[in-house]
Amino acid sequence: MEKMEIKLMHDSFTEEELDAVMNCLRSGEYTQGRIVKEFEEAFARWNGSKYGVMVNSGSSANLIMVALLKEKYDFQDGDEIIVPSVTWPTTIYPLIQYNLKPVLCDVDESFNISLESIRRMLSPRTKAIFLVHLLGQPANMSEIIQLCKDKNIILIEDCCESLGSSYNKIKVGNFGIMGSFSFYFGHHMTTIEGGMVVTDDSEIYDLLKSIRSHGWVRGSSRVEKYKALYDNTDFIFDMMGYNLRSTNINAALGLIQLKKLDSSLLVRKKNHELFESILRNSKKVKLQKVNFGETTSFSFGLLCNSKEERDFVLKYLPKQGIECRPIVAGNLIRQPVFQKLKNKYINDICLYADAIHDNGLYLPNNQFIDEEKVKYMAEKVIELLNIYEKLNIVNSRGFKNDLLGK
Ligand SMILES: Cc1ncc(COP(=O)(O)O)c(C=O)c1O
Repeated sequence: MEKMEIKLMHDSFTEEELDAVMNCLRSGEYTQGRIVKEFEEAFARWNGSKYGVMVNSGSSANLIMVALLKEKYDFQDGDEIIVPSVTWPTTIYPLIQYNLKPVLCDVDESFNISLESIRRMLSPRTKAIFLVHLLGQPANMSEIIQLCKDKNIILIEDCCESLGSSYNKIKVGNFGIMGSFSFYFGHHMTTIEGGMVVTDDSEIYDLLKSIRSHGWVRGSSRVEKYKALYDNTDFIFDMMGYNLRSTNINAALGLIQLKKLDSSLLVRKKNHELFESILRNSKKVKLQKVNFGETTSFSFGLLCNSKEERDFVLKYLPKQGIECRPIVAGNLIRQPVFQKLKNKYINDICLYADAIHDNGLYLPNNQFIDEEKVKYMAEKVIELLNIYEKLNIVNSRGFKNDLLGK
């Protein structure tokens, strides 16, 4: 097969997006306004949620969700929040920033949080689960929802890698009281930088809007409460907040990208099935187990048999034109920042997360990847694993080989 170039992130903007941005710039309405509102409504509708609050990144979406937990639910310092140990660090930073105690649990073959680990780590101080749906794969929702009900625990969802994935036909972001999304470049859809929180609760919606914008009362329904107290409620602030707003320009991109989303997700899904069927037959690697609901395949995640084998594949796949990388940030406990924050969190023994950290990698999937490219990637992975096997045999006999001309 002729060499192909396959990147992890692919530019998906067309003339349509460029026109939308130019129209926005010509209109003079740049900052958060009418188009952001339109995008929030369209996105919430698409996701089957009542409300959307757009922010400038997925990390900001997580931050305002955690701020909301402290504001509305009166969580106390040191209250425990269950999280998986394999996720992006900004799922967890806001918890520490708000003096909550993240409880890092192990994951399982789906690369999502392990139920056994959650059960091991529950305590009387457990107040919430901050669930993450990793690489497009929804978590085991029915068990987790039941557990939250039984223990009276709040559920929030980080859906930044799983836009559009569903469980029992319900899209992620709708299982807890709110869910976050990222529109970073190269994700399922993009506004270059951007994020969203969805919720069905009007009070949460109202508070999230204020946390996003300086703690401002303006634009929230709380304004009514202050009318009796102030002649002018335009500049009333009743809580601490940030400026995490996006712009009409980013939202204009979002509106166009949203129109193309369903067809892009179909391509990702088809690619995922093909990739899985080739590699499953080869029996050479462990694939992310797609056991619950419908994946929207952020990428192709897999585990090699050892760290050495994984590092070998990571090193030589790019030489075949295929960009690849370790899985998300691995086991976060092993990241230097979490070593520094050691007294700020609790963790279970995270053996599967360690396996992902050492042996895991992921390959590109997006709407520009076709059957031929999927086959090329799968074949190259198998080819490299075969070479690695041969090299190992030679080495174990005591020969130094230079098959790769290192
Ligand atoms: C699980 C998860 N949460 C949060 C984020 C943060 O999103 P952003 O990069 O838009 O800040 C990411 C980033 O990809 C992510 O993978």
